Amino acid sequence: MKSIASAPAKIILFGEHFVVHGTKAILAAIDKRVTVTTTFTENKTIKINSELGTIEVPISSSHEEVKNEFRPFVYLANKIINSDQNVSGLEITIDSDIPIGVGLGSSSACCVAAVASICGLFKELSSEEILKMSIEAEKTIFPDTSGADCTVCTYGGMIEYEQFTGTKKIDNTFDLNLLIANSMIPHNTKNSVEKVNKFKENDEERFSQLCDLETKLIDEVITAMKNNDATTFGLKMSENQKYLEEIQVSNDTLRGMISSLKEISLGTKITGAGDGGCIIALVKDENMDKVPALLPKDKECFSAKIDTKGVVWSTIEE
Ligand code: PMV
Repeated sequence: MKSIASAPAKIILFGEHFVVHGTKAILAAIDKRVTVTTTFTENKTIKINSELGTIEVPISSSHEEVKNEFRPFVYLANKIINSDQNVSGLEITIDSDIPIGVGLGSSSACCVAAVASICGLFKELSSEEILKMSIEAEKTIFPDTSGADCTVCTYGGMIEYEQFTGTKKIDNTFDLNLLIANSMIPHNTKNSVEKVNKFKENDEERFSQLCDLETKLIDEVITAMKNNDATTFGLKMSENQKYLEEIQVSNDTLRGMISSLKEISLGTKITGAGDGGCIIALVKDENMDKVPALLPKDKECFSAKIDTKGVVWSTIEE
């Protein structure tokens, strides 16, 4: 039997970093996916194939013994193997069209799809169970995760996320024409989050003001969406960018890209941890084809549609 699951990439529209400290964030799943396929083997090993390489380790191996990028898979495989003595080995294959390490939720989407795929060999899980286990798996590489990324990759669509109080689906979204531009600078979420923790330690008062400003901004965004007001939505993106600049997760490359798109967009900001990775811009339809000429040649860009499916899975008898 083969168990196949896929989960979407994500963007953070508003509230990255502040969400780790308890404020709200708005996220959307987008139309790029990772697919994870799992099969039983007789080899007494966990084998993982991905574009980052292949590893094969004895089933008794701990996730801590393997490289970071393979940890969630070994963790999940172990959990399943330990709960079912009849399983002698697993082979897990990851195929992704999500760029890695640039803030589009590649690792969260992998964790969500891996839970659905590996567990799908044994039983049907609810979305809530998939989410819970995928956050556990993601914590093997990033213990401080707010859980926001796994949540939107699981449910799809657009969500309002708050770490300690939960998730609200946002239904009445207008048709967002979002451009994603990749700075091609890989980033490290853990390092950026630690940098923001230091900022907070050094100036608790300002950080707390910024959290309040972010909360207010997100409430205004929700109202703008209800009113179908793309202009305000865009302005709030640029305002959010100012807060991200202040907590120092931007750099010259990102600022340069943001300023290149100023003339043709309603709003532009970093998405995700920053210090590299991607920016997002709300661009009017008629301006979409002007984008490539405005950005440096070495940057990748594409337009994104909101994914409404979230995680999907199925099994095939062989
Ligand atoms: O890993 P990224 O770039 O998608 O960023 C994660 C967003 C943060 O708010 C910085 C961290 C988190 O866990 O929410």
